[in-house]
Amino acid sequence: MINAVRGTKDILPDEIPIWYRVEKTLREVSSTFCFKEIRLPIFEKTEVFSRSVGIDTDIVNKEMYTFLDRGGDSITLRPEMTASVVRAIIQNNLLNDSPILRLWYYGPLFRYERPQKGRLRQFHQYGAELVGSGEPEADVEIILLAKEIIEQIGIKEYTLLFNSIGNKNSRQKYRKELIRYFEAFSNKLSPESQERLKKNPLRILDSKDEKDREIINNCPKIYDFLDEESINHYKKVKELLLANNVHFEESPFLVRGLDYYTHTVFEFQSPLLGAQDSFGGGGRYNDLFSEFGYKKEIPATGFALGIERIILILSSIDNKFQNENPFVYIAVNKSEYYSKVFEIAQWLRKQNIPTLFDLQKKSLKAQLKEANKLNIKYVIIIGEEEINNNSITIKKMETGEQKNLEIFKGMNLLLNIFNQNGDF
Ligand code: HAM
Repeated sequence: MINAVRGTKDILPDEIPIWYRVEKTLREVSSTFCFKEIRLPIFEKTEVFSRSVGIDTDIVNKEMYTFLDRGGDSITLRPEMTASVVRAIIQNNLLNDSPILRLWYYGPLFRYERPQKGRLRQFHQYGAELVGSGEPEADVEIILLAKEIIEQIGIKEYTLLFNSIGNKNSRQKYRKELIRYFEAFSNKLSPESQERLKKNPLRILDSKDEKDREIINNCPKIYDFLDEESINHYKKVKELLLANNVHFEESPFLVRGLDYYTHTVFEFQSPLLGAQDSFGGGGRYNDLFSEFGYKKEIPATGFALGIERIILILSSIDNKFQNENPFVYIAVNKSEYYSKVFEIAQWLRKQNIPTLFDLQKKSLKAQLKEANKLNIKYVIIIGEEEINNNSITIKKMETGEQKNLEIFKGMNLLLNIFNQNGDF
């Protein structure tokens, strides 16, 4: 028996209706915000991610699926999509045609993390990037898009955590101060935080270790280090969020796991998720285009939602997602009648009516039993009499009523019932 790779998950037919519903909402809300879809490769040159996400992040350090391909190039299965979007915008000169880009994407990502509920090695994200505006209004537009999707999908209970990590200058000052503060406790910190102290001290703020948390609670806050530009940006975003009835919690220790952020950062959390409670997050990234070597600074902001985590939330509040049942089942009592079966099935399917028939040459009785089990609404029975007088017998399964009608009359009757323009 060969099983799926640890941390990957089969999405089985019974789960598909909930995925369809989420995907439909993502598409519809994106288009009301005038965001356009972009589809990108699942793998990229490794440097696309190592350069942007940050050499000292967990994602780049421990979690990337990186391999040499047969040509000897280092390739990585994408662990996130913002970097790929930036790469694609530059490569395809998308900014030449339009100074502002509103893009969304959807697809699988790969991170070699320790699997647990809501944490997979292959998972899906929807994301949106608003590129070309450094204005606080662009951050608000992005947060409103996320909020609209979350609420239209049916998630009512969630928390939006919000913070600023300032521009590069502010962050450098804060970083120095953090190092000074944490060094005084360095042997009390968890081994992971001690490591972060050397490489990426801001990430200590994200530690889940209880002892670390006590030390973190008294550490200097970023707000005291924000310069005028950073403060103004932060205040304006907050003001606009409040004016638009967006509830958020200011969270001075929210730093996110990717290094490209500047100014605004935010995360969506749900009490229904347990340890992996963040089902989406994002922020502004004003320096990423320059880090990719682009000729100009291009401010940008965006977010991504974790689809498996969203589906976990929906499954815990609502289980009424069912596959559509087939509408018509065609039952026959002789193999010779199958050409008629195909003819009828083709006609009904062209009218978008889900139609099914037996492929095991079961007895008529067994076919009717199967139709009953599958919750089929109408069975078409074709026997000798029907073949001889070019008719079909239709049985309404709910009541057991039967009607024998000329074949096209019968099929049109089913079409009208299907389209809710008539009764049996
Ligand atoms: P991220 O916070 O790394 O951000 O991922 C966004 C969401 O993806 C998380 O909130 C979570 O729901 C989901 N996610 C992450 N890792 C896993 C996993 N192992 N299993 C299941 N779900 C997971 C980004 O990826 C940024 N690119 C977001 C962004 C876009 N920032 C600006 N633009």
